[in-house]
Amino acid sequence: MDAIPPASEMAANRGLLRMLTCGSVDDGKSTLIGRLLYDAQLIAEDTLAAITRDSRKHGTVGEEVDLALLVDGLEAERQQGITIDVAYRFFTTGSRSFIVADCPGHEQYTRNMATGASNSELAIILVDARKGLLTQTRRHSFICSLLGIRHVVLAVNKIDLVEFDQAVFDRIVAEYHGFAAAFGFRTLAAIPLSGRFGDNVTQRSPRTPWYLGPTLIEHLEAVDVDEDAEALPFRFPVQWVNRPNLDFRGYAGTVASGRIALGEPVVVAASGVTSQITRILGPDGDQPAAAAGEAVTLCLAQEIDIARGDMLAPPAQRPSVADQFAAHILWMDEEKLLPGRQYLLRMGHAWTTASITAIKHRIDVTTLGQQPATSLALNEIAVCNLSTAQKLAFDPYGENRLTGAFILVDRTSNRTVGCGMVQFPLRRATNIHQEAYLVDKAARAAAKGQRPMVLWFTGLSGSGKSTVAKRVEEVLHAAGRHTYSLDGDNLRHGLNRDLGFTPQDRVENIRRVGEVAKLMVDAGLIVLASFISPYRAERQMVRDLLAPGEFVEIFVDTSLEVCAARDVKGLYAKAMRGEIANFTGVSSPYEAPEAAELVLDGGGVAPEDLAQQVLDLVERFQAG
Ligand code: ADX
Repeated sequence: MDAIPPASEMAANRGLLRMLTCGSVDDGKSTLIGRLLYDAQLIAEDTLAAITRDSRKHGTVGEEVDLALLVDGLEAERQQGITIDVAYRFFTTGSRSFIVADCPGHEQYTRNMATGASNSELAIILVDARKGLLTQTRRHSFICSLLGIRHVVLAVNKIDLVEFDQAVFDRIVAEYHGFAAAFGFRTLAAIPLSGRFGDNVTQRSPRTPWYLGPTLIEHLEAVDVDEDAEALPFRFPVQWVNRPNLDFRGYAGTVASGRIALGEPVVVAASGVTSQITRILGPDGDQPAAAAGEAVTLCLAQEIDIARGDMLAPPAQRPSVADQFAAHILWMDEEKLLPGRQYLLRMGHAWTTASITAIKHRIDVTTLGQQPATSLALNEIAVCNLSTAQKLAFDPYGENRLTGAFILVDRTSNRTVGCGMVQFPLRRATNIHQEAYLVDKAARAAAKGQRPMVLWFTGLSGSGKSTVAKRVEEVLHAAGRHTYSLDGDNLRHGLNRDLGFTPQDRVENIRRVGEVAKLMVDAGLIVLASFISPYRAERQMVRDLLAPGEFVEIFVDTSLEVCAARDVKGLYAKAMRGEIANFTGVSSPYEAPEAAELVLDGGGVAPEDLAQQVLDLVERFQAG
């Protein structure tokens, strides 16, 4: 796969068109791009020789040169006969240069398509003339529109296989126009073509005399996609602070939009501190101004506190700054999105933790209708409310594609699990301030003569969590410690009585317990929390709520077999008969801790001895 040239290089080339091709499997994307390169004589001799050789080995078109092989660079693709990743191609004709992201057509590869689309100005949407519009066509068009693509070519491919029939073409185009009306595309060119035989790709076809429009290459060379990023307000996401010595402090990054000149005022969006530009350093040294796409280092008149992830903007045209906002989210992971779970969010150069506080509605990509949803599966799209740990500076994506997009990353696996486009900031709870108390955590803890902490017992139902916790609390209490127990079964009668056992309810269960445990630690108590708490992510979330050392994870490691054999509450028997849904260990997962402070052998050791191990640990913490 070719690497995509850096943004700075792309912006420097004014004649560049960034586009992506999308369509369903077998629509012939690779062949079409191959044809374009072949007919435009953009293929080097040696590449052609290699393809001719490979066509005999893997080709799907008999003795002819298989043009798809030119584009399907990956060996795995060749052998499966499908495209499996975004492959970028760079080529140039007399009047324009092109970067093509060739995106896969498989349902599960929507994430790759989104990756390609977020960098593109134009989309070639392929349709097989014999099949017409498919769910994939609609999905891809919608994603393109969502990701801000404003120029579309509807390539009605394999027109040779419908006898170059104008009626077929017209029907597909009319249906597409009806569907795409809501998408806000500025140009939409429908072209009947054959990638395999070259009709209307670079040469006007004598076999479609009824088609009077341009060939594909003519259209691509001529289409005007200038969004004029320079006309938007100045936005400079700070990539890094350049401080080689005490005499110099500059802020390096790429101008996302607008332009800036020496002497002009700027504001640090999040803090509201203002200053003026004193120097602009480009690749050739000092320059008087900088515009969208240029990588520069900016120096300011005052020494102010700016870090990576901050954004510089004109004081009169500030971006939104908020820690809650509404956004479209496209979910790209096999594991479902869970509201309440914490993910890492990256927007520009800023990283923070974020959670989805509400899924407002899911969007049916076929009808564009709104559906209620409690979670999101792979490839699903929804409008959500998000809450972030830190305030972020952004613009609505509809106004600025470069400062209104973000990705979500799973905290444990580091996988990119979703991408998002901001709709608008939410001005919630903006007048709520943190009240400083006169008596603080340290004072309360000192009055009790102890170090507050949370003993977090996790393990399967029936593993012995509550039994051990009860015993530990009894001994601590007798020794004059101030304690409190939080237990799954008990809290589910009160605070959490509205929650069941779906993944999203369990996330919310632990989120609430975590907040309560934090308040109790603040009150100076030793908290004993016994919850199955099946997910690593939420146990980590509670750990992060507390000061280092205060969260002690105790894994009561009792095997499923032992728990099920004990079956103290008769629940395992019911679960195995299918009478209880989502039962941990039976029909719902348990993610064992990887680095618990203490692992208790719940299957073989007496509860008193396990309690003693916990008590020893507590005493060490209290003494330290
Ligand atoms: S957690 O998964 O959300 O942490 P929690 O610890 O609060 O669960 O509650 C678990 C208790 O609820 C179990 O000990 C069991 O008594 C009861 N229970 C009822 N249904 C289920 C279920 N489907 N899965 C697990 N526990 C269940």
